[in-house]
Amino acid sequence: MKKIGLIYSFNTKKTGQMARRIVEAMGPENIQEVNAETLTEEQFTTFDNLILGVPTWNDGELPNYWDEFVPALEDLNLKGKHIAIFGAGDQKGYPENFVDAVGLMAGLVENKGATLVGFTSTEGYTFESSLAKRGNKFCGLALDFENQPGKNKERIAAWCELLKKEFV
Ligand SMILES: Cc1cc2nc3c(=O)[nH]c(=O)nc-3n(C[C@H](O)[C@H](O)[C@H](O)COP(=O)(O)O)c2cc1C
Repeated sequence: MKKIGLIYSFNTKKTGQMARRIVEAMGPENIQEVNAETLTEEQFTTFDNLILGVPTWNDGELPNYWDEFVPALEDLNLKGKHIAIFGAGDQKGYPENFVDAVGLMAGLVENKGATLVGFTSTEGYTFESSLAKRGNKFCGLALDFENQPGKNKERIAAWCELLKKEFV
């Protein structure tokens, strides 16, 4: 497996906590962490395997720091890149927009030719709609600190095992 770029905001508490678990599960030697708040196009395109941490903010939107990178993203060619997305959301508080930002980011990178990996079952979650939902799967990993904090650990562990098979 080639080196993985793990991109998330170093200023987030919850997403940062999950990132640390991901580093442990994938093996620190396999991962380079990159701060999404100071992300450059060069950093993004260095890696063939990418994990993006994208929590949902403001009723179904990308966090500001990812939003700011979207114009740069739209100029990139991501053919050959394998991208997995995880994101925190609140299924009770925002049942109509649960982890929408995972779906928004998925659409953006797919449009630029990337291959999405790390789809997970929607079983075990209760919500009305989500832009991250494709059939009976999320196009990434959904984590819910508000309502299911006890499930994060096992969900991340299972997801990382899947990524070890799907990354190149
Ligand atoms: C103002 C506000 C809006 C939110 N909007 C959504 C939303 O639309 N969908 C969702 O699933 N979660 C939403 N959330 C919940 C956050 O995604 C959740 O708290 C997450 O853990 C934040 O992660 P972070 O602290 O790493 O940024 C919202 C939270 C706040 C405070």
